[in-house]
Amino acid sequence: MIITIDGPAGTGKSTVSRLVADMLGLDFLDTGAMYRAVGLEAIRRRANLEDPRELAYIARLCRIEFDWAQKPPVLLLNGEPVSHLLRSAEVTQAASYVAVVPAIRELMVRQQQRIGREHPDLVTEGRDQGSVVFPGAELKFYLDATPQERARRRVRQLRERGELVDYHEILQGIMTRDHRDSTRTVGPLSVPPDAEKVDTTNMTQEQVVNLIVLRARAKGAAQRP
Ligand code: DC
Repeated sequence: MIITIDGPAGTGKSTVSRLVADMLGLDFLDTGAMYRAVGLEAIRRRANLEDPRELAYIARLCRIEFDWAQKPPVLLLNGEPVSHLLRSAEVTQAASYVAVVPAIRELMVRQQQRIGREHPDLVTEGRDQGSVVFPGAELKFYLDATPQERARRRVRQLRERGELVDYHEILQGIMTRDHRDSTRTVGPLSVPPDAEKVDTTNMTQEQVVNLIVLRARAKGAAQRP
């Protein structure tokens, strides 16, 4: 069973997807981490983020794999485990430039589809998983929340990690990225017609997880052994 979970930043997608995968005994694919890894490589090579050709060139130099033995799987960038480096503000910004380059999206989509073939029992999260990457997925969800609530969640998350952050700056960043994500020509953030839209603004993470697990079990997903 493939379950796709799409939606904008700050909807709790990552945590929800990980918990759902764990409860159902499915593998978990974080596709944002793949764009982030290319962003990290672009920073390391001091690339001009405004130059799509340079970014596409760098993306082709990136060998992106996952160590599936770890939970959640650790991303290996040319053999180096980098998951712990991917959530900084700098990498987040670079990834949003990387994700609008059509040639890079094509590369990532092909790799994600290959992962789907190798891991046919999968919870995959991103922006285009139900619409472009796995249009035939058994279950599709689109998580959403108001930009203000998403900004509050991000601020809480970053402060817990000890980062000094400003709510208004985070809110502005979320709105800018939403705009970039939903207006790009290839794989824009959109609600697949056959996805269930879940407004998480007033829901706890546990409620969102339970809803998805319930739907998956109704479709015959196995219980964790
Ligand atoms: O979900 P995230 O914040 O880790 O995603 C990082 C960036 O990659 C963000 O700008 C959205 C983009 N992205 C995308 O365009 N398509 C995906 N399937 C996943 C992420």
